[in-house]
Amino acid sequence: MSREIRITPSILNADLGNLSFEIGRIAAQSDLIHLDVMDNVFVPNFTFDFEQASQIVNSCPIPVDAHLMVADVDEIAATYAEIGCASVTIHAEAVKNVGSTLRSIRNAGARAGLGIKPGTKIDDYAEFIDDIDMFLIMTVEPGFGGQSFMHEMMDKVRRTRSIIGDRPIWLQVDGGVSIDTIAEAAQAGADVFVAGSAVFKSDNPAEMVNSLRILANSAAN
Ligand code: DX5
Ligand code: ZN
Repeated sequence: MSREIRITPSILNADLGNLSFEIGRIAAQSDLIHLDVMDNVFVPNFTFDFEQASQIVNSCPIPVDAHLMVADVDEIAATYAEIGCASVTIHAEAVKNVGSTLRSIRNAGARAGLGIKPGTKIDDYAEFIDDIDMFLIMTVEPGFGGQSFMHEMMDKVRRTRSIIGDRPIWLQVDGGVSIDTIAEAAQAGADVFVAGSAVFKSDNPAEMVNSLRILANSAAN
């Protein structure tokens, strides 16, 4: 069975003063826009407040994949679905009630994602699989763009792919994904790829998205 590949550029390292221009450069080539929400508590960095996130979602021409790197996420997760995000990912390390928070995202109309940091084991969360539409395996410590891809996370990607089996659950990697690393992640079983600096620091972001897709497709299928 061939796996559908999705490329989701992260706007974290785009020119935030010219965001609609930046998104416009890659919208036609991309499946979703990855929106990194950081609260300066769960991670040592702050990006967007809820109002700013809503404005981005409202003006974005393609679906938005929200990655919530925020503490005490149980109450707020569904509000990102309510403002129109297509996918909302919470962190296992930041949520108190995993199952009910994932269900609140689905009930509000978005795909429910569960993300884990490099030090967190996937097997501890397999029991929630029926409430999950996407697993996110972080391939850097969350907080900043431009870090190096952690090759040692590929065992976890392979393990997650085997836990998923033939369920229609997406498997996302985030951090350090580039033309040098995407094939390795695709071979290990990932099918949704976040790429921030690889896309927005390149001379031709649209062509970069196309190149990433080609490399992932030929490694995965
Ligand atoms: C990091 C974020 C990433 C980041 C990826 O915590 O979750 O989405 O934007 O940036 P790159 O692709 O530059 O590693
Ligand atoms: Zn992210």
